[in-house]
Amino acid sequence: MTKDKHGSDGGSLIVRKFLLVASIASFATATLYFAGAFNGDTVTAQRFVDLQQGDKPHLGFRRAHAKGMCVSGHFESTGELASYSTAAIFAQGHTEFLGRFSIAGNNPTAPDLKAPVRSFAFVVNPATSQEWRVAMNTPPVMAVATPDAFFQQLQALSPDPITKQRDPEKIKAFFKAHPESKAFNDWKAAYVPTNSFAAERYHSINAFYLHNEQGEKQAVRWQAVPHDDYRELAELDKTSADALQKQLAQQLKSQSVKFDLLFTLANNSDDENNPTIPWPMTRKTVNAGTLVITDWRPQAQGKCGEQNFDPLVLPAGMSATADPILRARGAAYAQSYRRRATEKLLYGQSTNSQGEPNVSN
Ligand code: HEM
Repeated sequence: MTKDKHGSDGGSLIVRKFLLVASIASFATATLYFAGAFNGDTVTAQRFVDLQQGDKPHLGFRRAHAKGMCVSGHFESTGELASYSTAAIFAQGHTEFLGRFSIAGNNPTAPDLKAPVRSFAFVVNPATSQEWRVAMNTPPVMAVATPDAFFQQLQALSPDPITKQRDPEKIKAFFKAHPESKAFNDWKAAYVPTNSFAAERYHSINAFYLHNEQGEKQAVRWQAVPHDDYRELAELDKTSADALQKQLAQQLKSQSVKFDLLFTLANNSDDENNPTIPWPMTRKTVNAGTLVITDWRPQAQGKCGEQNFDPLVLPAGMSATADPILRARGAAYAQSYRRRATEKLLYGQSTNSQGEPNVSN
């Protein structure tokens, strides 16, 4: 250890399932909110989701990362992380997973290639004590370190309700007032989007702890790193709003897509509770194994549509750090989940030409 410090079923089944999960989600939201989960921040999960969904919510969809596709496959563990964590998934072997590629934003029909951030989420061992839910984005760090500041960032980036345009002066003023956003803005300036979901690197951004049999804990971040330069393997139809989804679907017809899951181990000088600061490149990394994606489904038909990739759902052998963003995420995801699950119950599964639930049902 380098660090041991402080640190498609029948309709009624779907309805029952959503009711159950919706009630768990609202309980989780309430618990986190009333437990002061935002560590002194004044913003709540409700306010986050109100802001993220905008003035005309897309009913039945996630209030952030609304557009995505389901994928599935297995994780081939190298066993190299097993001395750091007792989580069963890190013992040598295979575990099935369900995943989702998405783009940031609240619009389920947004053009794939316009999105500033791409994402990869997955869940292994659902509904067991070994369940692990992960949601990763392309940036390696966040611009700000607290839920209040992130809320203000979202406000600064929100388009004016009348002109529908962003205000560049407001955005400039926000980042000027938050010099901690430098690493994020440097990444953003250098980032060149690839032409495939399969060719991006995805980051945990927030840090977590691994716990081993000796009772030691190690702070880590992880990233999913593509095996190959998949960009060359399938053509991208730049005229399509669903360009990235089509490209990946095409690619999966001829081959699986693989990502290594690389864990970076913090040392005592790294702050695991501040997601704005990159850890030095010299930190030890461990290759936990390979995520092998073999299949995909549209989110309306795949199981990922009804999944909440809450990053606080962790297996025994892992735990959350005190990073306040993590608590805010857990509460906001549950709030978004509760809204979309309730809407699906009310309006059914069918969608209109915009991909939204058909409210006349
Ligand atoms: C306070 C900060 C954040 C808030 C309030 C927030 C809020 C949300 C909300 C409301 C959703 C929709 C959840 C659902 O309906 O299932 C969501 C999804 C998502 N978020 Fe965040 N988020 C935050 C930070 C982050 C960070 C730091 C990351 C990356 C590490 C991230 C990655 C994702 C991903 C990948 C999804 C889509 C997961 C899926 O495919 O269902 N978020 N976020």
